[in-house]
Amino acid sequence: MKITNICCIGAGYVGGPTMAIIAQKCPDIKVTVVDLNEDRIAKWNDTDVNNIPIYEPGLSEVVAEARGRNLFFSTEVDKAIDEAQMIFISVNTPTKTYGSGKGMAADLKYIELCARQIARVSKQDKIVVEKSTLPVRTASAIKNILHNTGNGVQFQILSNPEFLAEGTAVEDLLAPDRVLIGGDTTEEGQSAIKSLVDVYSRWVPSERILTTNVWSSELSKLTANAFLAQRVSSINAMSELCEKTGADVSEVAKAIGMDSRIGSKFLKASVGFGGSCFQKDILNLVYIAKTYGLNEVADYWEQVIIMNDHQKRRFSKNIVATLYNTVADKKITFLGWAFKKDTNDTRESAAIYVADDLVFEQAKIAVYDPKVSHKQMLSDLNYLETRTKEENDKFVSSFEDPYEACKEAHAIAVLTEWDEFNEYDWQRIYDSMLKPAFVFDGRNLLDGKKLQAIGFHYQEIGS
Ligand code: UDX
Ligand code: UDX
Repeated sequence: MKITNICCIGAGYVGGPTMAIIAQKCPDIKVTVVDLNEDRIAKWNDTDVNNIPIYEPGLSEVVAEARGRNLFFSTEVDKAIDEAQMIFISVNTPTKTYGSGKGMAADLKYIELCARQIARVSKQDKIVVEKSTLPVRTASAIKNILHNTGNGVQFQILSNPEFLAEGTAVEDLLAPDRVLIGGDTTEEGQSAIKSLVDVYSRWVPSERILTTNVWSSELSKLTANAFLAQRVSSINAMSELCEKTGADVSEVAKAIGMDSRIGSKFLKASVGFGGSCFQKDILNLVYIAKTYGLNEVADYWEQVIIMNDHQKRRFSKNIVATLYNTVADKKITFLGWAFKKDTNDTRESAAIYVADDLVFEQAKIAVYDPKVSHKQMLSDLNYLETRTKEENDKFVSSFEDPYEACKEAHAIAVLTEWDEFNEYDWQRIYDSMLKPAFVFDGRNLLDGKKLQAIGFHYQEIGS
């Protein structure tokens, strides 16, 4: 089937950028991105393209080019489903917060709702593409719902997991390491795979488009994220040992990264990984392993999360211990709140947990982040439900200007690796702070030697 009309359910960090690139590269395909969230859709349609709800370098330019031509954002979900030949499901699959599998399993209620809606609305055969990261064998549940509640329409289910990383989404989509498409081994399944391959072939070289069975594709996504997160936890485990032994984790990372069998990427020690995927996907993997009774497999992967939680907690404990075991009423400035640079996404950001620990000690947190709003910071903290909203309000403030944020602070903690932090006038910051002035670099970002020369007490993770 030659695809001329695509619909994507979910206008989030994955659905939005992915569809924008498909629309840019395939001007003859009408691409409609739908979402239940009216506010989000209104932002995607804002006449000022700089107001789109997701910050990604280069994304607003792509949206400016394709929007209104063949890229549309809408809340009319039924209409878009009805018109499309191919439907991407890109809704969120958070960790379950209730019932069995609470805190581990993926909550598939949105996926199921999407499947039921597609079944109800569809009058012609359709290809349904799982874009969201899903537990292995979800496709069979979707298939069941579609085939048993629909109007006798034929559906093919493909798995096409997204490997883009936030902050580099546009680059990753334009030049992916690989595109993975899983489908049924039947003739119809293979033909559905081909339809999607034909879409990506417009800009992705064919040797980078990998086709597999559905289960391999679903499981590969979880595996990729688990391996990446494991590298971060592995180097973070070493960072603590470095601190005890006088080794420097950046030097260790460089030394092992030059071994081509290990490779240099994803070896940066940090205050811990965040983001919407790593923790959720590993918990999911752990849960799946447990349901099959594979307890050793589950424990093995769970340790990656345990290490990550430890690293965040260790960072905040170190701040308290260094500041003479009391931070009550002390101003501690956070540079960065996003879970990594070049994104306004804060999901599972280490900053949230470090702030929570320090507020527990009654520190006054002053945050500067170039892309995250005060409202978002408070909503992240309130979501933890460790104290009342009023208390969080009282302890956490935010600043538009980094110099104001640092003024009269006892300490600075670097939580996100925004490039601009390196460009600051650090002498000016030092002069405005209370002495002794401390910097806790949770990202090994700043030039420690320079800061020490100015007079800062400088500590970075792992040295
Ligand atoms: C999500 C998942 O978190 C991730 O596992 C998956 O790989 C891709 O989809 P992301 O795009 O970052 O990632 O999520 P989010 O930004 O929350 O976007 C999901 C959107 O779906 C939201 O805008 C939400 O309003 C929308 N949605 C959710 C619907 O339109 N309908 C629903 O039933 C549920
Ligand atoms: C990840 C995967 O990279 C992507 O392929 C998948 O589709 C979604 O999940 P993302 O969550 O956007 O992408 O960010 P990523 O760049 O992987 O970083 C995750 C976290 O690990 C961040 O908090 C980052 O700061 C941290 N990290 C990464 C480190 O602490 N050290 C590193 O060396 C690399």
